[in-house]
Amino acid sequence: MIKNAFITGAASGIGRATAETLYAQGWDLGLADINEQALKEMTLGWDEQRVHCYRLDVTQPDQCAAVIGAYAEQHDKQLRLLFNSAGILQIDRFEDVSSQCHQQIFDINVMGTIHCCQAAFPYLRHTSGAQVINMSSASATYGIPRLASYSASKFAISGLTEALELEWEEYGIRVCDVMPPFVSTPMLNEQASGAPVLDKLGVHLNAEDVARTILQQIEQPKTHRAVSLQFALTYAASQLLPRAVTRAIIRFLNKG
Ligand code: NAI
Repeated sequence: MIKNAFITGAASGIGRATAETLYAQGWDLGLADINEQALKEMTLGWDEQRVHCYRLDVTQPDQCAAVIGAYAEQHDKQLRLLFNSAGILQIDRFEDVSSQCHQQIFDINVMGTIHCCQAAFPYLRHTSGAQVINMSSASATYGIPRLASYSASKFAISGLTEALELEWEEYGIRVCDVMPPFVSTPMLNEQASGAPVLDKLGVHLNAEDVARTILQQIEQPKTHRAVSLQFALTYAASQLLPRAVTRAIIRFLNKG
């Protein structure tokens, strides 16, 4: 089976850690990011036969089609894995986040994933063992105060994943997502404002922890896979308990 993957948001955090992990395991990689310079620096010394870097703004459907097409062309139009990791976050009170920023969160986190799924489909459908892995989040379990539009964007990813998992079954394409709680990456560490939920829960994961979960998703895909035992248990409980209980927990965590 061909082992090639196209990763968005590959220049930093979880996308980068996953690229490094897959590279070490012998995968051929198409690495895309809006920050092409960071991609180039990261892949200095990597085998140029196995790694191709692309500047890509995932909010632009034409760019997604051109870049994913160009990568797949180098592999007989085959693509085994699309990993949608590009994303942004703005932690703040809802009313203090500009409309433009709310829009950008949806454009990148949701529409970016949709554009890449559409662009990759013609190649995924002709590849044995093809798979899509989307970055969802623990915040897709219940809306998180101060992360309102981000949380909403991850609910959208969760729904998209569920729908495509069933819709693309007929083509043999597996679609799944990964749900980490807070992870120490530039996205989180560079936030100017905080959130009570973040203060109470803390940050106990790094990008490499999530990359290991991505490997599990490649080997044994599950529609939604929680990252860390602690959150896996919380997530499982949230699926069984009445929603009012989850609301009460988030309400408690949100108390300053
Ligand atoms: P990060 O900021 O370290 O990496 C995100 C990458 O996406 C950056 O390299 C950035 O340049 C790229 N990017 C941003 N806008 C782009 C665009 N328009 N087109 C192409 N690339 C673009 O962030 P991190 O933490 O690695 O996040 C990766 C994914 O994991 C995101 O989808 C995020 O929502 C998700 N996630 C992160 C968590 C965390 O606490 N860090 C928790 C749960 C999910």
